[in-house]
Amino acid sequence: MQNEYEIKKEMCEIGKRVYNRGMVAANDGNFSVKLNDNEFLCTPTGVSKGFMTPEYICKVDAEGNVLQANKGFRPSSEIKMHMRVYKERPDVNAVVHAHPLYATTFAICGIPLTQPIMPEAVIALGCVPIAKYGTPSTMEIPDAVSEHLQYFDAVLLENHGALAYSDSLLNAYHKMESVEFYARLLYQSKMLGEPQEFNKEQMDKLYEIRRKMGLSGKHPANVCPNAKAGKPSCHSCGGACSQSAPEATADADLVASITKKVMDQLGL
Ligand code: 13P
Repeated sequence: MQNEYEIKKEMCEIGKRVYNRGMVAANDGNFSVKLNDNEFLCTPTGVSKGFMTPEYICKVDAEGNVLQANKGFRPSSEIKMHMRVYKERPDVNAVVHAHPLYATTFAICGIPLTQPIMPEAVIALGCVPIAKYGTPSTMEIPDAVSEHLQYFDAVLLENHGALAYSDSLLNAYHKMESVEFYARLLYQSKMLGEPQEFNKEQMDKLYEIRRKMGLSGKHPANVCPNAKAGKPSCHSCGGACSQSAPEATADADLVASITKKVMDQLGL
């Protein structure tokens, strides 16, 4: 298990990756890691996340109040958005916010990432909906994001950027990379022609793979009411899943964990 200093070092490393891959410009972006129910590490506001050292990292409580920050550093202006994710998703241990070029372009045009066009995006992400626009640093963004938290592990922020969260910082970062890669593929294929979407049979097989892998988190394979109703592709709903069936998520977690246990016991 990593100690606090090692986690801070990892946050600096992730900052470099986010910056060097062009997922943020200048001082943009922020991320955080849960240490326990009342202690969280987060990036400071107003610095380039590509050039941080461990002493830049701040510590806050579950409300985002400062527990520890070195002189000259204050927690991210978006800390409330991070805290809302932790509050409503106890399975989440890290949150990454960035402004990747293609994903943010979709967010600006109001187009959710829902077309099922490649296996990895379907299996790892499912759909990526858009949380309605909110003024940065206000409660408008946490409130808009909240609507999607029980159904998705990544959301676009309208006219702003993207948010990804997972059980570890590396996984949350990878999720952000996957969102951007998916957005880029979708953009490029729309430029070249009409992206060919998977049909229901192909989708069912991909969803089945996801279930067998026992991947944690929320995913349309488990929680989409459209898919449960046998409709062709839950990816066609535009991320509207969040409008219904809140009880589906609890069922989904249970089914995913039982499936994983059975597969493990069968050695599959
Ligand atoms: P902070 O530097 O305050 O984290 O803000 C960066 C950002 O991208 C806000 O959306």
